[in-house]
Amino acid sequence: MYRHILVATDGSALSGRAIRQGVSLAKALGARLTAVAVIAPYAPGNTALAALRGFSVAVRKEARRALAAFNAEARAQAVPATATSVVGGEPWKAILRAARSRKCDLIVMASHGRAGLSGVLLGSETTKVLTHSAIPVLVCR
Ligand SMILES: Nc1ncnc2c1ncn2[C@@H]1O[C@H](COP(=O)(O)OP(=O)(O)OP(=O)(O)O)[C@@H](O)[C@H]1O
Ligand SMILES: [Mg+2]
Repeated sequence: MYRHILVATDGSALSGRAIRQGVSLAKALGARLTAVAVIAPYAPGNTALAALRGFSVAVRKEARRALAAFNAEARAQAVPATATSVVGGEPWKAILRAARSRKCDLIVMASHGRAGLSGVLLGSETTKVLTHSAIPVLVCR
């Protein structure tokens, strides 16, 4: 069965469902557990030197925020886990790259994320991961 589960989170409340399922599944299977959050490379008040100085601080803060729920859930369920972040790039590509490079055999993600439950069946990142993934994807609705 699955030996290394990758949970993708954008830090939203909706991706919290994927976090709970991913952590529970890893616990039930005794699988390894990794989370990835893809952070947009921006700095608030984005101007010149202030932006450059603030950039790494802002990105680190955003990564901590996005992964907080994952770390809390893994701790609560006593599942050993690794939380990782990637800065920049398209989230779906970074999620698939993380799964490949860490040799994960299952991706767990939510049907929707930060943009919320819109009329669309699936969010755009989930759609693209499902379209291009070579490994199974568990989509939590
Ligand atoms: N930046 C990200 N880093 C890691 N996982 C992400 C990221 N963005 C989305 N995901 C994963 O994909 C799920 C669905 O998000 P997605 O972005 O596809 O939908 P959305 O935000 O509702 O709509 P939109 O297509 O407008 O972004 C999230 O709950 C999360 O599991
Ligand atoms: Mg989104």
